[in-house]
Amino acid sequence: MTQDELKKAVGWAALKYVKPGTIVGVGTGSTAAHFIDALATMKGQIEGAVSSSEVSTQKLKALGIPVFDCNEVDSLDIYVDGADEVDHHMNMIKGGGAALTREKIVAAIAKTFVCIVDQSKQVDVLGNFPLPVEVIPMARSYVARELVKLGGMPEYRQNVVTDNGNVILDVHNLAIVNPQELEQKINQIAGVVTVGLFAHRGADIVLMGTSEGVKTIEA
Ligand code: 5RP
Repeated sequence: MTQDELKKAVGWAALKYVKPGTIVGVGTGSTAAHFIDALATMKGQIEGAVSSSEVSTQKLKALGIPVFDCNEVDSLDIYVDGADEVDHHMNMIKGGGAALTREKIVAAIAKTFVCIVDQSKQVDVLGNFPLPVEVIPMARSYVARELVKLGGMPEYRQNVVTDNGNVILDVHNLAIVNPQELEQKINQIAGVVTVGLFAHRGADIVLMGTSEGVKTIEA
C-alpha cells in the first residue's frame, strides 16, 4: 500500500469514534483530509465540527459540514488529527502543516485525542522530524538564539505565515528524551506562541496504518 492509502485507511477508521449528535474536533493535513471525507458521510448525524485551520474549515464547509467557532463550544468528545511523529508514550510532534497552535487549542478542549498516522510516523525518540515552533514575527531572532542554547538548530520556514499571522521556526538536531520538560521550556521563551510538542496533552488513541491493517494503540 502507498503512504496515502495508509493515511486514507486510518482517516476512515477514525469514523467509528464519532458519536451522533456531537461536535467533532477536526485536525489539519493530508491524513485529516481523509478523515473529513469520511466525516462527510455522517454529516446528517453530527452537529458539526470545530476546525484547527482555515484549510480544514474550507474543506468541511465545501462538504456541507457546519463549522463552529471554538469559543462557542465548551468541550468536544473527540479531536481527530494526524502527526509528524508519535512515540511509544503517545507524545507527538505536530505542526508540519503550520497549524500547531489551533491544533493545540482544539485538542485542549477535547476529551479524547485520536491520532491518525501511517506507520512511518512512529518513532522511538521524537526529534528526527524538525520541531515546529510558532513565533511572533518580531521575536524570531531572539527565539532562534534561545533554541540554539537548548541544543537545537532552528531554521526559519520561508514564505509561511500561520493562520494567526505568525512565523515558524523548524528546530533540527533535537533528540527529545524528555518531551514534557522540553515543551515547558520552549513555551516559556518570550515570543513563542506554541511549540509543536504535544506531550502535556498527548494522544489517547493512536490509529496506525500498517501494511497488515489499522492498528489501535490506547494510552
Ligand atoms: C499540521 C499537522 C499535521 O497533523 C501533520 O503535519 C501531519 O500531516 P500529514 O497528515 O499530512 O502527514 O500537524 O500542522
